[in-house]
Amino acid sequence: MKIKPFLTEHFFAKYEFTASHLLASSDCETTSIADLLDLSGGSLVDFGAVKLGYTESQGHPEYRRLVTEMYEHVAADDIVILTSPVEGIYLTMQTLLDASDEVIALSPAYDALHHVADHLCGKFELWQLVPTATGWQMDLDRLRSLVNSKTRLIIVNFPHNPTGYQPERDELQELIEIARENGCWLFCDEIYRGLEPGFELGATLPSVADIYEKAIVLNGLSKTFGLPGLRAGWLVIRDRKLREELIGWKHYTTICPAAPTEYLAMQALSVRVQLAERSRELVRSNLAVCSAFMERQSDIFHWRPPMAGSTALVEIDLEYLGRKQVQTFATTTEYCHHLVQNHGILLLPGECLGCSGRFARVGLGRQGFHAALVAWEATLPAISI
Ligand SMILES: Cc1ncc(COP(=O)(O)O)c(C=O)c1O
Repeated sequence: MKIKPFLTEHFFAKYEFTASHLLASSDCETTSIADLLDLSGGSLVDFGAVKLGYTESQGHPEYRRLVTEMYEHVAADDIVILTSPVEGIYLTMQTLLDASDEVIALSPAYDALHHVADHLCGKFELWQLVPTATGWQMDLDRLRSLVNSKTRLIIVNFPHNPTGYQPERDELQELIEIARENGCWLFCDEIYRGLEPGFELGATLPSVADIYEKAIVLNGLSKTFGLPGLRAGWLVIRDRKLREELIGWKHYTTICPAAPTEYLAMQALSVRVQLAERSRELVRSNLAVCSAFMERQSDIFHWRPPMAGSTALVEIDLEYLGRKQVQTFATTTEYCHHLVQNHGILLLPGECLGCSGRFARVGLGRQGFHAALVAWEATLPAISI
């Protein structure tokens, strides 16, 4: 059996490096090596002295120690440093799953969170986030009806890509109770953690790594910290046996982290508060502009503002667009291809992430967002006042 295609990566590969306006990126604005070192007090000379030998498989002990500062009850031994965040999804699924297992995954989702598990397990069930008039909701009763004694793993992602959904504390606790009662592992992708309004004040959720003993938590420097080119990520696995098995799989993928990345990742972690603050501020101001745009264009768009993270999912009334414009589009996938090919504006079709063809993803973490919205608005039918 072949694994399903990674539609998001295929779509980005086709357009990301030529489109004039990136309106769908999930990563926040990045920085240069020189600017990062300026901020962290590191030096290009020290970076130049990094030796290009193999590194420790589990990751440099100081790198792992710096990561533990993001958690309450996690030790450096519980961390496995990866050669990219996405590697952590592959390794976890390979380590945990075989054809006798059932998996339940929150949907929609970043492709890898579904396809690797679906490829490996016996039964793969989607657990849909439910759209409301103003946002999204988890249906915990539905989860209860899906879970059973064969369910080995539940896969979630908070803050959620693409909807920007974030559960309340009691909802997260209930989700964990369901997993605990059924003896399930819970894979929580927390790569957008820190992009919750009020994160700096502690007004947010704890990491699942701190509150569930059978959690596997993914994070990295790509999104909140704006450093996807570093390919720096980690898993938190407090269960020693599982961690060792996973490191066994890692010997077949990347063996150990890249030495230059380890140096720069440690620099970045030493200023993670400042990097995250910068991203939060950018998302906050882009979101304000975006919400005003969506309100102006409410004949076309149904906007459910994100609660956290750097992405949102907009529902597009393609029939209305068709009535007002010469061209009609059957799905947002057609519309997104049209928009980027004719106007250089890159939105991500929701179908890449397992949504219906009425949705598209907007990315809120980039500079140039305002200019991109102006360009998009210029393509839309004139508003009748
Ligand atoms: C939810 C989620 N997890 C993991 C990743 C993988 O991150 P990276 O591409 O930096 O490996 C992404 C990237 O878009 C993501 O959205």
